Amino acid sequence: MKILMVCLGNICRSPMAEGILRHLAHQRGIDLIVDSAGTADYHVGEAPDARARAAMMRRSISIEDLRGRQVALQDFTYFDMVLAMDNNNLRDLLRLAPNDEGRRKVELMLTLASTMGMREVPDPYYGPDSGFDDTYHLLENACNGLLDAIAHR
Ligand code: 4NP
Repeated sequence: MKILMVCLGNICRSPMAEGILRHLAHQRGIDLIVDSAGTADYHVGEAPDARARAAMMRRSISIEDLRGRQVALQDFTYFDMVLAMDNNNLRDLLRLAPNDEGRRKVELMLTLASTMGMREVPDPYYGPDSGFDDTYHLLENACNGLLDAIAHR
């Protein structure tokens, strides 16, 4: 199973989601390929936001080595699931997908997972540092739900 996490900039939400899912899958002994990308090209080649890295390091998960990249057409072929953090990401991905097969792989991240009543992962970029801990908790919850769904297939 190959999963791509997608947000706008690929420096906050989706690299955190990538790191958390990889960590939890490893803990459970589930074999997954996980990557992340942004719909925009603003931060291509950059490390994740320092606040995102700090929130992850507080849980001893390193995303220091990740680098921003933009979603590419091949992603819709290579990955089995392309998971959007919010409705803007979802709309952009559906617009970008080259065919129906690609569009079928695109879903909101929080559709598959138990989510504390939320449908979107809010963008923490312009908010306070504490927003990154909120993002962490939401994504951890969602990734556990996603792994439950995968394990029961
Ligand atoms: P992300 O957050 O989509 O979770 O990586 C953002 C990062 C950068 C910008 C917006 C959102 N930006 O406008 O540069």
